[in-house]
Amino acid sequence: MMSEKMLKALNEQLNRELYSAYLYFAMAAYFEDLGLEGFANWMKAQAEEEIGHALRFYNYIYDRNGRVELEEIQKPPKEWESPLKAFEAAYEHEKFISKCIHELAALAEEEKDYSTRAFLEWFINEQVEEEASVKKILDKLKFAKDSPQVLFMLDKELSTRGPKLPGLLMQGGE
Ligand code: FEO
Repeated sequence: MMSEKMLKALNEQLNRELYSAYLYFAMAAYFEDLGLEGFANWMKAQAEEEIGHALRFYNYIYDRNGRVELEEIQKPPKEWESPLKAFEAAYEHEKFISKCIHELAALAEEEKDYSTRAFLEWFINEQVEEEASVKKILDKLKFAKDSPQVLFMLDKELSTRGPKLPGLLMQGGE
């Protein structure tokens, strides 16, 4: 059985992963409005992945005999100034999530909870990928500046990211 402090921190992270899904669904809707279906597709796939992350925390809490406690999910923004600003916000969010995961790992070490520390290893690696994939698109958007041509080319490229559900939900995310 893990400590109350650890359990509370894991439940808070479960909430943050659900908020991440909410945020990316909001960004998807923003891109739908702009007619950028590829960007919207990428964001929806990202949101699905976040549900998978939340599910990993959910399952782990029960594997350790804990209790999931769902809190209110913060309302995400509805609009961004530009696609570039939306991706800047996504990048900042992923950096924040990485920081939270690192704090969780530090807490697990402090608590000598080596099972939780091992569980978090997957997330530490995943966050490197999460930040890198957003940064890659952000860099392209910076390069595109206001060029509609580059934006549409990028939109086409992002339309190829496929959905992973329902298999993803069964596995708790990839
Ligand atoms: Fe669940 Fe994008 O971090």
